[in-house]
Amino acid sequence: MQICVIGTGYVGLCSGVGLAAKGNQVACVGRNKDKIAGIQQGIPPIFEGGLQELLQEVLRNGLFRATDDFAGAVKEAEATFLCVGTPSGKDGRIDLTEMRQAAAQVGEALPDGYCVVVVKSTVVPGTTEEMIRILEERSGRKAGKDFGVCMNPEFLREGRALQDFLQPDRVVVGQLDPRSGDVLQRLYAPFQAPILRTDLKTAEMIKYASNSLLATKISFANEVGNLCKQLGIDTYAVMGGVGLDHRIGPHFLRAGVGFGGSCFQKDVSALKSLAEDQGVPAPLITDVLEVNRRQRFKIIDLLERRLPVNGKTIAILGLSFMGGTDDIRESPALDIIPALLQKGAAVRAYDPQATRHVRPLFPQVTYCASAREALAGADACLLLTEWEEFRSLTDQDFSGMRSPVILEGRRMLDRSKVSRFEGICW
Ligand code: UDX
Repeated sequence: MQICVIGTGYVGLCSGVGLAAKGNQVACVGRNKDKIAGIQQGIPPIFEGGLQELLQEVLRNGLFRATDDFAGAVKEAEATFLCVGTPSGKDGRIDLTEMRQAAAQVGEALPDGYCVVVVKSTVVPGTTEEMIRILEERSGRKAGKDFGVCMNPEFLREGRALQDFLQPDRVVVGQLDPRSGDVLQRLYAPFQAPILRTDLKTAEMIKYASNSLLATKISFANEVGNLCKQLGIDTYAVMGGVGLDHRIGPHFLRAGVGFGGSCFQKDVSALKSLAEDQGVPAPLITDVLEVNRRQRFKIIDLLERRLPVNGKTIAILGLSFMGGTDDIRESPALDIIPALLQKGAAVRAYDPQATRHVRPLFPQVTYCASAREALAGADACLLLTEWEEFRSLTDQDFSGMRSPVILEGRRMLDRSKVSRFEGICW
């Protein structure tokens, strides 16, 4: 099929490259000419495992192109995916500015023949119906008759976004009408995953409920973890036992410094605001965020029990919000570093990928090219991101520290390799 993807972020690019890899002809539309040029040369603007290799393959076999010709790409497409940003506004409510603009532009460029417009960005229930009104106003055409509309949420984890796109647990197809859904049914048939056909609002809510439940599992794991820590129990042993229950499952029960990333905070905030606007009490959803906010400062409390921070040098290992990505949005490090600086600490930091994004935010931090360099001369160390390379750290790497105060927030250190460290919840 001829596909147009609006947006060159990790959802748009991974979806576009993934659909091209399945044999579709994909045009990925962006506004930034430098980004477009880079993608055309096979260099993605984001760091995602496997993306560069697959992008170069689909470029080579002519199945994928990046362009800033919005109208041209929409006109040729049988399906146009809206993968634009839907960030949190100041009050935590979803900001639909980009989505509305994209819907208006698509409306103006709709092809003469039948096509389907697909909202893929994460949007609160009722949003796709608002986009339909914009599409009809701008095109003078009737949705469900002259063109189709679907809502097809993404469940991509950063760092594994391409793998999650190519091997989904399920494909959710919210449809305005069966003809619209049939187009996506055909598009996703090669993915060998269950395809769930729903109405538009159900598909929108499945995404919010999924993300909010995942975030809830993490905050629950952290609350139990904090209690286990107090009781001298290893919470990972506890959650290992809990996760064997097939009704619960082992995933997203890892206690630590809490969740970061552009999605959980944004989506849980939007769901909280939606409940408030509807006058429906949702205290659990509200507390998921508060538990997570407090958790990242817990590692500083533990540190201050071990040494006075003022005047000390603290090494931070890990700046991105999780291993495998250079994305720092909502990363625990972005709250922990300023808190340490405020307490009079000198901070040294190392991250395999994310340093370039953090350096402008905290120029007073010393950025290092390796963990060992960051640890040299430090009075304490905080491990904040689950980068695989941190699993292989040994006492030797920490031997350059002035004092062996090592606190980890992501269960990465191996007691057989590092003899002295303390976990935030273990
Ligand atoms: C999340 C959802 O998983 C994904 O389905 C959705 O489409 C986008 O949001 P993402 O935020 O990219 O994906 O990564 P994820 O693997 O979910 O991790 C999010 C954060 O939670 C990271 O900071 C990670 O360190 C943390 N986390 C994850 C935990 O603290 N404990 C866990 O058990 C799992």
